[in-house]
Amino acid sequence: MAQDETVIVTGGAGFIGSHLVDRLVLNNEVRVLDNFSTGSHTNLNSAAEVIETDLRDEDATERALQDVDTVFHQAAQVSVTRSVEQPQESFSNNLGATLNILEKARKNDFRVVLASSCAIYGAPDETPIAESHPKDPRSPYGLEKLTVDRYARLYNDLYDVETVALRYFNVYGPRQSGGDYSGVISIFKEQAENGKPLTVEGDGDQTRDFVHVDDVVRANLLAAETNHIGAAYNVGTGTTVTIRELAEQIRDVSGSDSEITHVEGREGDVKKSQADIGRIRNRMGFEPNVTLSKGLRSLLD
Ligand code: UD1
Repeated sequence: MAQDETVIVTGGAGFIGSHLVDRLVLNNEVRVLDNFSTGSHTNLNSAAEVIETDLRDEDATERALQDVDTVFHQAAQVSVTRSVEQPQESFSNNLGATLNILEKARKNDFRVVLASSCAIYGAPDETPIAESHPKDPRSPYGLEKLTVDRYARLYNDLYDVETVALRYFNVYGPRQSGGDYSGVISIFKEQAENGKPLTVEGDGDQTRDFVHVDDVVRANLLAAETNHIGAAYNVGTGTTVTIRELAEQIRDVSGSDSEITHVEGREGDVKKSQADIGRIRNRMGFEPNVTLSKGLRSLLD
């Protein structure tokens, strides 16, 4: 992307946001906006200015969003499970903040790159999933992200705000926190490192498209530059792996002697997921660089 711009990363103390900040500070003025509800001070890059604020606070956000060229909106309540348990809180976090930022963009004229999710497709009828696939979110989180994604398009259509929505598939990499609300790779990693059994839920035949956070960062940089605004793009690798194979790979790469056990499957679990990345490839020249085996080696070695 262009150099020497003033950019904001919301959620810049979080998993994806902090990696984006690390890349952006190399040639831009970077401001991090984070409320540190799940983000961590240890993820912060010292070259970035940090403003601790809740993005639902209109006055604080107004001040923080002055004189900016691009906002990368990564802050969110990211747990599907938590959204099911506390839908109102998730709604307020994910939609209140987004609308606030889009309104400021309408006034102050900056580009907004927004984090959407493949959760908007629900349980897909067919894979690979193209952007035009029917949307059928199965969780408050998925519905919130679909709304974010559609608001991005509407703000472009109605008010000419430059927006791009990125529909992340299953993102993994360093700094993804472990624990119950985390993604399967960080859970298996923690289990393998502690010699605990890797808990495959259900038969393990379910598939996912795991995309490394470095590739997600590159997709964001391309989105900041593209002329193809007002649209949404899948961000994945276009490849897929079963959860059973994933468990085996993680065990092998980490040299762990953990067993692989099967536990009860998740209710409503998505059976198959794989991105069709034709649109982002054709319009932005995006190619994923990190294969799963390379990404797992660098994460686990
Ligand atoms: C993930 C994301 C969600 C994103 C969504 C898009 C997380 C926590 N969730 O949900 O934010 O919007 O993709 O659809 O990152 N599994 C096991 N054992 C475990 C944990 C998980 O077998 O210990 C299985 C699950 O049953 C599931 C698969 O691994 O089949 C992936 O689970 P998870 O990493 O939670 O991701 P998604 O459910 O795809």
